[in-house]
Parts: sequence; C-alpha cells; structure tokens
Amino acid sequence: MEITYRTAAPSDAAQLLDYLKQVGGETDNLTFGAAGIPFTAEQEAALLERIAASSDSRFFLALDGDRIVGNACVDGMRNARLRHRRNLAITVLRDYWGRGIGTGLMERMLDFCRESGAELASLEVRSDNERAKALYRKFGFVSFGTFPKFFKIDGEFFDVDCMTLEL
Ligand SMILES: CC(C)(COP(=O)(O)OP(=O)(O)OC[C@H]1O[C@@H](n2cnc3c(N)ncnc32)[C@H](O)[C@@H]1OP(=O)(O)O)[C@@H](O)C(=O)NCCC(=O)NCCS
Repeated sequence: MEITYRTAAPSDAAQLLDYLKQVGGETDNLTFGAAGIPFTAEQEAALLERIAASSDSRFFLALDGDRIVGNACVDGMRNARLRHRRNLAITVLRDYWGRGIGTGLMERMLDFCRESGAELASLEVRSDNERAKALYRKFGFVSFGTFPKFFKIDGEFFDVDCMTLEL
C-alpha cells in the first residue's frame, strides 16, 4: 500500500461525498453519521473550488491508488480579529487506521497553517476519542477545556475537549 496525498479538486466531489458517508458510519466521533453531509455533488464541487482558491483554507485527501481513504480540512477565518486562527478536522477510513495516515494529514495541515501565516490552530475532539487525542498531543496540541454536551447522538450527550496549538 502506497498512500499519496494531494489537495482536493472540484472533480473529487462525488467520490468525497460517498467517502464521507462511509467514514461517518464507521464511528460516532464526527459531526455527521452514515448520512454524510447534506450537499449535492454540485454544491460540494463549488465548496471545494472556493477552498482551493482561498489563501487561508485547504482540503487535503489521502489516497490509496485512486480511492479516498482519508481527508483533512483547514478552515481559515475571514474576520480580521480571527484571521490568526485556523480550525482543523481530520478523518481516516477505519481499515486504514494506525498506518500513519492521520499523522501524514496532520503534517500537511500544519505546514499549510504555518505557510499561510496562522498563529493558532484549534480543534474539537470527543473527550472519549483517545486515538485522536493521542494524535493531536503528539503534535503539541493541548486541551484548554471541555465543552459539555457538545454532541447529542441517539439521545445521548457527549462532551468534547477543545484543543489548541501555538504555531
Ligand atoms: C483519529 C484518526 C484520524 C487517526 O488516524 P490514524 O491514521 O489512525 O493515525 P496514525 O496512524 O497517524 O496514528 C496517530 C497516533 O494515534 C495514536 N494511536 C494509534 N493507535 C492508537 C490506539 N490504538 N490507541 C490510542 N492511540 C493510538 C498514536 O499516538 C499514533 O501516533 P504514533 O504511531 O506516532 O505513536 C482516525 O482514527 C480516524 O479517522 N478516526 C475516526 C474519525 C475521528 O475520530 N476523527 C477525529 C475527529 S476530532
């Protein structure tokens, strides 16, 4: 298996929506489940185009051949008072966990954050998601608090840890 990484293009939209349904159905760690995100392929393509043209946001893919097996998104803030920050998100298909793909995606996100002049990276992670928290701590992220009842999934509340990294 050779994993490659690249930024997402509008032509990835349809496969990406299918990927998000799969990864959303594999854990309850994300803001969406097996239904994926409520976008048409056209809407997703337009979003990817906007992100690709942006100077402060980036959408990365990890691929096994032509198959998407991981994704990561850096989300920049437009408001002048928030422009020093980037919010990060990451997913990897369950069959591919533990093979360094999360690490590869995080390295690319943080390189982009620094290149684009960000001073602070932030993310939210379910407090019981030890695997993800270990990945983030490895890169120096620290928890600064807990957001109680952040998720409500099938009637059950879940807290998240709020984490930041000074760049
Ligand atoms: C969290 C996630 C992105 C990690 O991706 P991954 O490709 O498995 O990550 P890596 O293989 O690069 O491992 C990263 C680190 O995770 C930690 N880790 C790996 N396996 C672990 C395990 N079984 N238990 C705890 N931590 C573990 C280690 O610190 C590892 O770093 P190391 O190998 O240098 O020691 C992936 O599990 C995932 O997508 N999960 C579902 C979605 C999700 O939770 N996303 C995050 C939402 S905030």
